[in-house]
Amino acid sequence: MKTETDKRRTALITGASNGFGMEFAKLFAKDGHNLILVARSTERMRKLAHYLQDEHQLEHVCVITADLTRPEAPREVYEQVKDSGLEVDFLINNAGAGVHGFFSETDLGREKAIMQLNMITPVELTKLFLPDMKRRNFGRILNLASTAAFMPSPLLAIYGATKAFILSFSEALSNELKDTDITVTALCPGPSNTMFFRRAGAAHTRAANGSLSEPEEVAKDGYEAMMHGETRIVSGLKNKLQTSTSNFLPDMALAATMRYMMEEEPEEGPTGEAKHEPSEEHQKQ
Ligand SMILES: NC(=O)c1ccc[n+]([C@@H]2O[C@H](COP(=O)([O-])OP(=O)(O)OC[C@H]3O[C@@H](n4cnc5c(N)ncnc54)[C@H](OP(=O)(O)O)[C@@H]3O)[C@@H](O)[C@H]2O)c1
Repeated sequence: MKTETDKRRTALITGASNGFGMEFAKLFAKDGHNLILVARSTERMRKLAHYLQDEHQLEHVCVITADLTRPEAPREVYEQVKDSGLEVDFLINNAGAGVHGFFSETDLGREKAIMQLNMITPVELTKLFLPDMKRRNFGRILNLASTAAFMPSPLLAIYGATKAFILSFSEALSNELKDTDITVTALCPGPSNTMFFRRAGAAHTRAANGSLSEPEEVAKDGYEAMMHGETRIVSGLKNKLQTSTSNFLPDMALAATMRYMMEEEPEEGPTGEAKHEPSEEHQKQ
């Protein structure tokens, strides 16, 4: 039996030029949905758009170049979508970034841009597209949170806080919309094999060099959860177990573990001993 989500619809995906966003685009295309791809890398998105349109005979695939750290960007994106005549049924608030380092040393300008990108932009896009979804009484919103939403994130403090915000916002909105056919899903991946760590300046951390989830699997988990209208999905068994500890471990113990993961992997000395000791805080645990 065909369901509402089986129809040909339109998905707007932010951060569609790379990582999870690119994988979401492939999943929507495979199911025959129209695509609106949004990010800064126009050429990458154009190539993806051509490939997916040819491969799946999609009616509409459109590319919008936007720097989503700019406060005007969400409204500009909304207006371009309106001008195209497309209606957004699936809103995938995926674009995001982090900055690694001690808060006392990181750049405030970059952090303000990250807060705009990770929090204000998804909130504003939701604010703009939700009334149209309500009018049609159909919509699926997927917001990218993180396992970092469940614990304080030393060395990635602003990033972790933005993801806690997104998780809380998504769950509250999901409740507000419970009597409609509009759902809100927060996807919480753990460390994954995308450009994220390199771009955050965190490529040499333990987290980036540990076991990483593959973006195809993460996107598939998020896609399926969103289509089923689930409120929250933690992707991967290891991440499910890890986030469940946040229910009973004190926040400062979680913070110490997170700090250990976000510290640089110590290089080995000539005799195999670690050159650097784990942080003092982690040794306390
Ligand atoms: N990878 C992980 O370990 C992990 C874990 C949990 C959650 N997440 C979250 O997953 C989401 C996707 O990240 P990813 O892992 O796929 O990282 P990624 O490979 O770095 O991709 C990030 C995407 O966001 C776009 N983006 C970044 N800054 C932008 C800006 N100023 N304006 C417009 N678009 C921008 C990038 O496109 P352009 O550069 O072309 O603009 C790119 O398409 C993020 O919200 C991230 O926080 C990632």
